[in-house]
Amino acid sequence: MSTQITRITARKIFNNRGEETIEVDIRTKSGFGRAAAPAGASKGLAEVAYYPKGGVDAAIKVVEKSIAPKLVGMNANQQEEIDSLLHEIDGSENFRRIGGNTAYAISLSSAKASSDSYGVSLYKYLGGQIHYRLPFPLGNVLSGGKHARGRAPDIQEFLVLPIHAKSFLEAAKGNLEFHKRVGELLERTNKPFTGGRSDEGAWLANIDNYEALELITKACEEVSNQLGLQCRIGLDVAGSTLWNSKTKKYVYRHDKIKVTPEEQLEYIQELIQKYNLAYVEDPFHEDDFENFAILTKQSKGCLICGDDLFVTNTDRLTQGIAKAAANSIIIKPNQIGTLTDAWKAVKKANEALYTPVVSHRSGDTTDTEITHLALAFNCPIIKTGVVEGARIAKINELIRIENDLGKERRMAKIPL
Ligand code: PGA
Ligand code: ZN
Repeated sequence: MSTQITRITARKIFNNRGEETIEVDIRTKSGFGRAAAPAGASKGLAEVAYYPKGGVDAAIKVVEKSIAPKLVGMNANQQEEIDSLLHEIDGSENFRRIGGNTAYAISLSSAKASSDSYGVSLYKYLGGQIHYRLPFPLGNVLSGGKHARGRAPDIQEFLVLPIHAKSFLEAAKGNLEFHKRVGELLERTNKPFTGGRSDEGAWLANIDNYEALELITKACEEVSNQLGLQCRIGLDVAGSTLWNSKTKKYVYRHDKIKVTPEEQLEYIQELIQKYNLAYVEDPFHEDDFENFAILTKQSKGCLICGDDLFVTNTDRLTQGIAKAAANSIIIKPNQIGTLTDAWKAVKKANEALYTPVVSHRSGDTTDTEITHLALAFNCPIIKTGVVEGARIAKINELIRIENDLGKERRMAKIPL
């Protein structure tokens, strides 16, 4: 068995939105790994740059000319060395020269090639001898904000979380039923509803935030009773996409209101209480650590999660921990570029008892490595949609992992 890298190939493929993305193949003497990068539509300002000037084509050239010659001959199991070499070759603080998505595809395909060389699954290769816990799926049932076109709720994502499911399969089935019921209720109550769905497979409808929450609450109650499951609701407010930094107000276009940060705080608190929310992501814009801290202190029993706030960046997370801003962090490895950087953020989060939630991107492929990261990194929740090809690929992979674990399988514990 050898993890020595013999060949690296980069190519252009497409994500579920039809956007160009980079895919990398790494061959070792004994194995093979392939990874493609996802892409966001509501990106955090502090995320790394996805590609060098010239986009995916330029990134492919960078791989061929500058990265492959240095990586061939190295061992794919030297993850930290490979990731730090990517930083060194790039030389900037945000991967703007080689591209964060280039780094992501190399970093992940290398880990996959190494695990394949050893003949073990990626989650076992990365997780070692831990007791694996399957994550609960947090799934988007209704889209709004930047993930919608035309008239839709201002909040970007309305999510469901089946908190007492005994297995991943049961949880995934629950989410599918919640999603289906939301569609049925929309069909019954909303005349213009066309059955349209967003990139993440969530429903699109011209309703406001309250109507959306009432409808999802109803769907959750009905289906929970039927399946004997408990469904809690979550939101991704994507606060930065509502924030106008000039007027210092949150602009709700659909609802035609503009609110101050203080009013935004009151509004989110009201929603948490009224709808017993289990999870609120990015309730404020990406630099408002202070209001994140106030909300976190006042919202027991609800995860307050930072996505654009932290961008999987350990320095930003450290700043958040010092201010007690949020109690949960979204982990999207391509926000930061490499597996090692993402792993550092998870480690820091676990040490500070911040709940890590590993996540897809709205523009994604059928790649499934984030499901393996959820287990290896001990993330009790995975945010990966309910339906749509790129989401189902990940759900199905978790069902396979659950099968693979057999008697050893256990669901994670969500700190709620
Ligand atoms: P993105 O959004 O993948 O479009 O950035 C998802 C999110 O904000 O969580
Ligand atoms: Zn988000």
